[in-house]
Amino acid sequence: MTAYQKCILCGETHDISEVLTSCPSCGGLLDVEYEWDKLPVPKSLKEFEKKWSERSVPTSFSGVWRFHELLPFVPKDKCKTIGEGQTVLQQADKVAPYVGMNAGNLYLQYEGLNPSGSFKDNGMTAALTHANLVGAKRAACASTGNTSASLALYASLTGLKSVVFVGSGKIAYGKLSQALDYGALTLQIDGDFDDAMARVREVCPKLGIYLVNSVNPFRLEGQKTIMFRVLESLRWQVPDWIVVPGGNLGNSSSFGKAFHELKELGLIDRVPRLAVINAHGANTLYEMYEKNGARWNGGNPDRPLIEGYFKRMNDENRRAHTIASAIEINRPVNFDKCLRALEWCNGLVREVTDQQILDAKAQIGQGGLGCEPASAASVAGAKLLREEGVIAPSDRVVCILTGHLLKDPTATVAYHSGQKKYHDEVLAPRGVTTTQFANNPVPVPNDVDAIVRAIEG
Ligand code: F0G
Repeated sequence: MTAYQKCILCGETHDISEVLTSCPSCGGLLDVEYEWDKLPVPKSLKEFEKKWSERSVPTSFSGVWRFHELLPFVPKDKCKTIGEGQTVLQQADKVAPYVGMNAGNLYLQYEGLNPSGSFKDNGMTAALTHANLVGAKRAACASTGNTSASLALYASLTGLKSVVFVGSGKIAYGKLSQALDYGALTLQIDGDFDDAMARVREVCPKLGIYLVNSVNPFRLEGQKTIMFRVLESLRWQVPDWIVVPGGNLGNSSSFGKAFHELKELGLIDRVPRLAVINAHGANTLYEMYEKNGARWNGGNPDRPLIEGYFKRMNDENRRAHTIASAIEINRPVNFDKCLRALEWCNGLVREVTDQQILDAKAQIGQGGLGCEPASAASVAGAKLLREEGVIAPSDRVVCILTGHLLKDPTATVAYHSGQKKYHDEVLAPRGVTTTQFANNPVPVPNDVDAIVRAIEG
């Protein structure tokens, strides 16, 4: 078997046919590992360019599976793809001045172009490919909205039944509407994401349901390809920084693995630095990494420190609270893997306020790529790191825009509308007091002269 599962803590291995979301012996997270020396790994990343001429082959068209040789846990003809990963890397010269970067040095990787409108599809195609391989009939997830939308879409296409656990009133309408329309059994749990996550982990083993949250190691294999496409767009040059929002910490974990593997395989000569950006109201990683010094320590994370923090959080019933509902998470399940990624990529963590997030989001919109609030945390974080002098204006920086603008119309309209109702109900409770980049709609009488005056000023 050239692919197998391996615990990141104790190293125990398991066959890929086993459905596991943690190590049965020690509870650690699992990786998918490969015996690379027995696999046809390309000598150079440039070899992937050959796939561009094979667009009629679904696995070559897919922005995930055209990198099949770098996630070869399944034969190519078994991949369940709908053409995900047709995403773009924008050289964001209109946003660069806001961040404090030189023109030509800020890039935005727009994952909102995926079939369900978020980066989750990169992972879901891999997870449902594995689900299919092991004969699963039902799949489930807890979600702040995007995972549920993606699961519902891929399940409906591959013939599985999907069950999604969402915190009641906690997910944006764009995302809820997707889960409902694609036919998922949508359970609105009386609680938040952290509650939904805990419950789905209890229910899945009980009912034999396949779990697709990012504790699923196969899902994270798919998300590695976001980094492969970034490199591809930069003609295989490694950027200086990858800046990514942190929620459940699946992306950051898989990005770290992607670069670590490429380096080990000799396909890149250095890894970029990784910056993970928390929302201030959901800042467990920031608190733990930057304030309490939690580290991976080459595979020996300080368990009493980490467990003590989570215990205090539970004892105090601390809840996440941010307008970036996608990352409104206090108990990230990939915590250990993210620490490992931060070690591999000489990483750091920052937190940004909802005010900083919404201002950055408006700037991204004016630059031509709309995103949802959580995604804008990456740009707000890059700006902060520029102000701190950690990122230089001449560095090459890639911020990941994880989800599409239309996912969360409420946050966008609240920022731009200027209406008191939105100010009182949406913005002020999250500490957003100014809307300096708002593009207010203009009320106009139903009259041509008045309309002309409104246009000409
Ligand atoms: N950005 C968006 C738009 C997301 O939907 C999420 C996560 C993240 C960032 C954070 O990514 O978990 O890999 O650190 N959304 C999950 C969901 C939790 O249920 O849709 P992460």
